[in-house]
Amino acid sequence: MNKKNIEDIVRKEIIKSVIDSQEFIIAGNWKMNKTKHEVISFLDQVANHNFGNKNKIIIAPPNPYLYLFEDKLRYSQVLYGVQNLFPKESGAFTGELSYEMARDFGAKYAILGHSERRMLFNECNEFVSKKVRICVQNNIQPILCIGENLDQRIGGEYKQHLSNQIKEGLVRISGDELKDVIIAYEPIWAIGTGETATPDQVEETHMFLRKYLIDEYGKELGEKIPLLYGGSVKTSNVLDLALAQSVSGFLIGGASLDAQSLIEINNILN
Ligand code: PGA
Repeated sequence: MNKKNIEDIVRKEIIKSVIDSQEFIIAGNWKMNKTKHEVISFLDQVANHNFGNKNKIIIAPPNPYLYLFEDKLRYSQVLYGVQNLFPKESGAFTGELSYEMARDFGAKYAILGHSERRMLFNECNEFVSKKVRICVQNNIQPILCIGENLDQRIGGEYKQHLSNQIKEGLVRISGDELKDVIIAYEPIWAIGTGETATPDQVEETHMFLRKYLIDEYGKELGEKIPLLYGGSVKTSNVLDLALAQSVSGFLIGGASLDAQSLIEINNILN
């Protein structure tokens, strides 16, 4: 056996032990995509699929399709949530969705503060923090999105920006409530652009965020809060990104729209 073969075998063993020992969250953000017919076809492919018992699969469809998720995923391993919520119980908020409506249809998660909402709908940390609060108080797990733009990455102020987004996003919750929070790091320059952050960039940023969480919220909580990576994740790069330290899973846009690609991503991480 030559040196190259030995190196390949060692690499495969290392990969296997890292992937085997970690439970990944694989969350799909469908954004404003799919027709009813396409949603039914997707759900028919995943509802009874055996995803194994390690990873957690979550999909956030557009709101009108939640009833299909409730209907078709009743006995499925696939969990689901919403892409946004309004931080009030009910009332005169035209076009908005309450936590109770989301929960009525079985949604267990809410993506909050996604960069598209921050940029296109002017959502600020203060507003996002109210959404985080209403979610944790009402049994919906928030997936708080944070991420820097290209200028902040190049200028080197991205760490300050990211820690601010966490600090201000979580300002309205404390103590035990923090254990339900999921954080998704999504560099804006890598979302929907095909431009992925390199595994080294992801590892460096996630290690920084992990340290920040531990310093800010204590070792026990800080080590537990899942840290997802998002931004052009797909079957071809998910393994390398999963090997980066402190990556607890992924928030996936484009590649989560296709049932077979979602299944393949789970296979790779199993
Ligand atoms: P993308 O989207 O995977 O299509 O880049 C990720 C996201 O916006 O959550």
